[in-house]
Amino acid sequence: MRTLFPSYIRVPILFFIVAGIVEYFVDSGDKPAFIENPYVGLFLLLVLILIIAIEVIVSALENVMFQTLTEEEKQRYLESKNKEPQFTKLKKIYLKLLGSKPIEEESEIILDHNYDGIRELDNSLPPWWVYGFYVTIFFAVFYLFKYEVFNGDSQVTEYENEMAQAEKDIAEYKKNAKNLVDINTVTLLTDAGDLSAGKKVFMTNCVACHKADGGGGIGPNLTDPNWILGGGIKNVFRTVSEGGRSGKGMVSWKKEGLKPLEIAQVSSYVLSLEGTTPAEPKAPEGDVWVDESAPAESGDEAPAEDTETETVPEQAVEN
Ligand code: HEC
Repeated sequence: MRTLFPSYIRVPILFFIVAGIVEYFVDSGDKPAFIENPYVGLFLLLVLILIIAIEVIVSALENVMFQTLTEEEKQRYLESKNKEPQFTKLKKIYLKLLGSKPIEEESEIILDHNYDGIRELDNSLPPWWVYGFYVTIFFAVFYLFKYEVFNGDSQVTEYENEMAQAEKDIAEYKKNAKNLVDINTVTLLTDAGDLSAGKKVFMTNCVACHKADGGGGIGPNLTDPNWILGGGIKNVFRTVSEGGRSGKGMVSWKKEGLKPLEIAQVSSYVLSLEGTTPAEPKAPEGDVWVDESAPAESGDEAPAEDTETETVPEQAVEN
């Protein structure tokens, strides 16, 4: 390594290897470690100084030793040093690709004519250029066959495919995002698919206590406007996911393994039962639920209108 690379390459390479290792092992989140943690920067600075110091010391030692040699030995040392490989392979490849004649052999390729003392060399094309040209020919044939003969996707089709894929990904994401609902984001689901999924959950888990038609048994009647623990999607969602009052028998379905989306679906289904007439309804328990947050739609019309007339002037003042 010492003989292959000069020090101005050796020092940065060593330094960046160390910095890379540090970056890999120090957990610094998105930011580089030396910005996140000043001690890492300090450490890297020390490493850099150390590497430079070693370089300086080694070359100084070399120098001192060189001075102790006799003239003849100095000569021999310099010769051997020059013989040491310095990218000789790369240099050879470079010269070969360049393909130019060495200046001593130029007489072989010089052309006859002489324009006021300006003469011309008949150089052959540089190999790097020729190979590049072959590559373009190969590329052209490949391109012709792929896109013109075998009708590969054009840019427009590629674009459309990507857009279609993106739409699929978004739909997929939304499906999962639906599963992230919680008490704060849950809304009443009215989609037929969601309701039938909710019905399925209800039939599997809830009929034992609430009956298939929601008329109630061990659990209260879910079809009347009366709610013990509060009606509306948020309260029902909370009751189903957290459970009822302790000891009453309504467990936390979150803990029983229902997913947030399933809880939202079954809650919406339960709310869709309100107003239906079950076969053997259990007597109403709890209070009639009036939704104060939503102005309309809350079943009972009189209070709904009340809230509306109350809020309108307030809003007008605010605006
Ligand atoms: C083991 C019997 C049992 C099962 C199974 C059961 N519940 Fe209940 N549920 C009850 C009882 C008892 C209550 C009353 C809780 C209270 O008074 O605190 C109740 C209350 C409720 C309430 C609140 C009613 C109100 O008036 O506030 C809802 C909503 C409800 N259950 C939905 C469900 C859903 C949805 C399922 C199925 C995922 C389910 N329950 C499964 C027994 C059950």
